[in-house]
Amino acid sequence: MRHEPSICSLRSAAKRPAKGQLFRSPRCMSGLFKGSAIAAARPPRSYRLSRRYEAKASEGRSHLKHALLQIDGFAPDIQQVRESVISGDFTTEIGPDGAIYTGISKHEVQHWFDLIAQAIEHPVVPRLSFFRMNVAGELPHSWVHSDEICARFAGIVYLNLPEQCRGGTAFWRHTGLHIDEMPSIEQMRAGGGNPDWFCTMMNREWKDLTFWEQVGFVGMKFNRFITYPTSRFHSRYPFEGFGATPADARLVWTCFYDLA
Ligand SMILES: [Fe+2]
Repeated sequence: MRHEPSICSLRSAAKRPAKGQLFRSPRCMSGLFKGSAIAAARPPRSYRLSRRYEAKASEGRSHLKHALLQIDGFAPDIQQVRESVISGDFTTEIGPDGAIYTGISKHEVQHWFDLIAQAIEHPVVPRLSFFRMNVAGELPHSWVHSDEICARFAGIVYLNLPEQCRGGTAFWRHTGLHIDEMPSIEQMRAGGGNPDWFCTMMNREWKDLTFWEQVGFVGMKFNRFITYPTSRFHSRYPFEGFGATPADARLVWTCFYDLA
C-alpha cells in the first residue's frame, strides 16, 4: 500500500530510505529549529491527546491513517534490549543534509516489527529503525516536523526506566493554516494552493514556534510504544535531552514502516 506523496517530499522521493538504511533523507530528521531560547519559553504541557485523536484511535485499526495508537508493555524483552543497547556502541552519523546525529545505536530488534504488526493487526514493511540517545543540553535538529518521506508510519518505544522518565512526544498544529499534518500534493491543489509556495512557506515557519500550537502530548513511559502517521507534525518534548550517559540519558527506539 502506498500513500500520496506530500508536497515537500515530492522532489526528494527518490531519496527515501531503503530497508535497513539510516539517514537517507534530508527531510527525515533534518534540522528545523535551533536555539534553546524558544524551548525555554514554552514549559512542557502534559495534557492528554485531543478528543479528536482519541476518537480516531478508538474507531479501530482500519483508521490508523489518522490515529495515534499507544501500547503499554510493548516488548517482553525490553529489559534485555535496554541492557544490550546501553552497554553497546553509540555512533555519530552524518546525514545526507550534512547534519551530525549523535547517540545512534544500531542494535538489532527486527522482531519488534512483528510486535507492531500484532499491535495494529496488520502486516508491516519495516523501512528504518535505530535507537537514539539524547543527553542533557542536546537539542534536536528537528523540532516540529513531519517524517512522511521515511515511510507512512512512525513508531517510538520509550526505554528510560520509570524514575528517569520525563517529557515525551508532542503533536502540533500550525496556527495559521489550522492543519496538524502535512497535506498531500493532491490535497493542496484541491484547495487551490501552489505546492512550491506552500513548501517554501512551511520550511520557513516551522522554524518559528510561534506558528505552532501543541495539540497533543504522550508522556514517556518505560516500554510504551506509540505509532502515528509520519505526516503528523510532531516532536520530542521538551526538545532538550537529559542525562549524561547511556544509562541515564533519554533513550528511545525510533522506527518507520509501511503497511504491507
Ligand atoms: Fe520525527
